[in-house]
Amino acid sequence: MEISNRIRGFQASPIRRLSPYARAAKERGIKVYHLNIGQPDIRSPKEAIEAIHSYPNDIIAYGESDGDLALRKALVKYYHDYVDVDITVDDILITTGGSEAILFSLMTLCDPGDEIIVPEPYYTNVHSFARMANVSIVPVTSTLEDNFALPPLSLIEERITSKTRAILLNSPNNPTGHIYSPKELETIIGMCRDHDIFLIMDEVYREFCYDNQKFTSVLKYTDCNERIICIDSVSKRFSMCGARVGALICRNRNVIRETLKLSQARLCSPTVEQYASLAAFGAPPAYLENVKAEYEKRRNFIVKALRSIPGVKCSRPNGAFYLIARLPVEDAEDFSIFMLRDFSYNGETVMLAPAEGFYESKDLGRDQVRIAYVLNTDDLEKACICLKEGLKAYNNRTF
Ligand SMILES: Cc1ncc(COP(=O)(O)O)c(C=O)c1O
Repeated sequence: MEISNRIRGFQASPIRRLSPYARAAKERGIKVYHLNIGQPDIRSPKEAIEAIHSYPNDIIAYGESDGDLALRKALVKYYHDYVDVDITVDDILITTGGSEAILFSLMTLCDPGDEIIVPEPYYTNVHSFARMANVSIVPVTSTLEDNFALPPLSLIEERITSKTRAILLNSPNNPTGHIYSPKELETIIGMCRDHDIFLIMDEVYREFCYDNQKFTSVLKYTDCNERIICIDSVSKRFSMCGARVGALICRNRNVIRETLKLSQARLCSPTVEQYASLAAFGAPPAYLENVKAEYEKRRNFIVKALRSIPGVKCSRPNGAFYLIARLPVEDAEDFSIFMLRDFSYNGETVMLAPAEGFYESKDLGRDQVRIAYVLNTDDLEKACICLKEGLKAYNNRTF
């Protein structure tokens, strides 16, 4: 019996594939600091937790395929109040996480064999979504030396072919922390207009912009409504990653109508979690303000701590809660395994995400890791000490 060649072509997630090593380390009694995954230690809004405890129905029933109407109305209000954008409930499909919204976008916009242009390094799971949709990712490379700014726009334009259906951007960016400026956005949108293609904009981290930088949502560019899809999620905003509630937002009725077929096929997104997400949108503004301040503090801390480790270089991200660091090793995956399998310092170690899988181009990112600064600064400090000692031990190994 054979399984498909298609599945063999997928990659195991670089964020999760070292988990068996982490599990084994924990079984040996070692504390593992997880810098590999964007799972914050921040509490979800108490309103959301209370909603789960007091869920009023006797049956956890299927909901509407396009999402709970009350939640969609809450999103309309949130966009008005917080994002300075007016949308209607008809522009929104609730999805099972932002992940499903990305997959649905590709399925709706692209035929098998089509292409999307994506700046790399990029959110690695897009690789798998593109494979599911049979779509090729055409990368444009951004670099640590440039603080991962958008590559020259001429380079992006050069990659557009008759098969290109969309440019996919993520701002604030995972894994680089880069935020696209309004000027960059305007130029990209202009390019999409000139070449008659879509822009998929993943804004799941839009609340987390630092150094007083103001975020401009792509949905503000209303003259290009027809060609813009915005990806949203409660996962990071409200530290509700396990709720699996996101949204696809688009003012192009045709896109919404056609995508709804996919929503109907998977019946609905989680019912109780949509109820909890609705409650989360009722949290006071101070909730998000405090969370953002906490991440900014962590960003400041980790950049300084990493830069003080000999041989380590990292960008200074101004959004989201990730960064790419270059380590003084040839193979960051081998080093990451070493940290989990062969090393501990005072009974502790660190789990990292090797960055190679965040690049589409071959041989890029081999000496880089993605770090998620989702732990409190005390834990980040201990994690950075482990990293420093681990690098010393790794580079002094005798074979
Ligand atoms: C850039 C980006 N987009 C989308 C997602 C998917 O989030 P979820 O499916 O949990 O909403 C993530 C998760 O880490 C992400 O980093």
